[in-house]
Amino acid sequence: MKLPLIAPSVLAADFSRLAEAVIRIDEAGADWVHLDVMDGKFVPPLTFGPKTAADLRPHSSAVFDVHLMVFEPENLIEEFARAGADYITFHAEAVVHSHRLLGAIREMGKKAGISIVPSTPVSAVEPLLPYTDLVLVMTVNPGYGGQSLIPGCLEKVRTLRELRSRGMGNYLISVDGGVNRATAPSVREAGVDVMVTGSAFFDARDKAGLVKELKGG
Ligand code: DX5
Ligand code: ZN
Repeated sequence: MKLPLIAPSVLAADFSRLAEAVIRIDEAGADWVHLDVMDGKFVPPLTFGPKTAADLRPHSSAVFDVHLMVFEPENLIEEFARAGADYITFHAEAVVHSHRLLGAIREMGKKAGISIVPSTPVSAVEPLLPYTDLVLVMTVNPGYGGQSLIPGCLEKVRTLRELRSRGMGNYLISVDGGVNRATAPSVREAGVDVMVTGSAFFDARDKAGLVKELKGG
């Protein structure tokens, strides 16, 4: 599959028609479905839980990329694993015992991801890099779609690439927040493997065209 992978987030979709949204994602030639889970505490909004992921599962064969913006994610991983999640990513800022949780996700046969908000440096997760399959670099403060990408966060992508090339781990690097036609070139240039896109994807009339453009043509 051609990198970067494109992972549209259903956060920007009409929640009364989520099945249609995941079908659109497939039809547009995007690679993954990004599911933003918010608990109303770690971030102010509430979105959905494992039942929604389970109900969507039969409508898509794409990788389900679950992004947990919740405190105590350890209480949710088993249910999301059963719901058909492929990647389960939690926030470094929400967890004390991160190695244990990454291990628990992998033991369930799932890919384990760690995410950092814009104010968290890469050094905070460096000890976790050998134990993670994905590092999700937030380029906005999580909680809402449609915000502007904070350009300084892209430096973290470069740092993560550098660490990976030095053998620190074997993870994908994902960028989430404010990815659109205008910002995609700088995100690609930073060397990202996965681009999450919410509002840009669901606002686009030509979704397949957008996916191609985000990938760099
Ligand atoms: C933000 C979410 C993102 C969001 C991105 O808290 O984690 O996945 O959907 O939306 P856009 O692409 O509109 O910034
Ligand atoms: Zn997300």
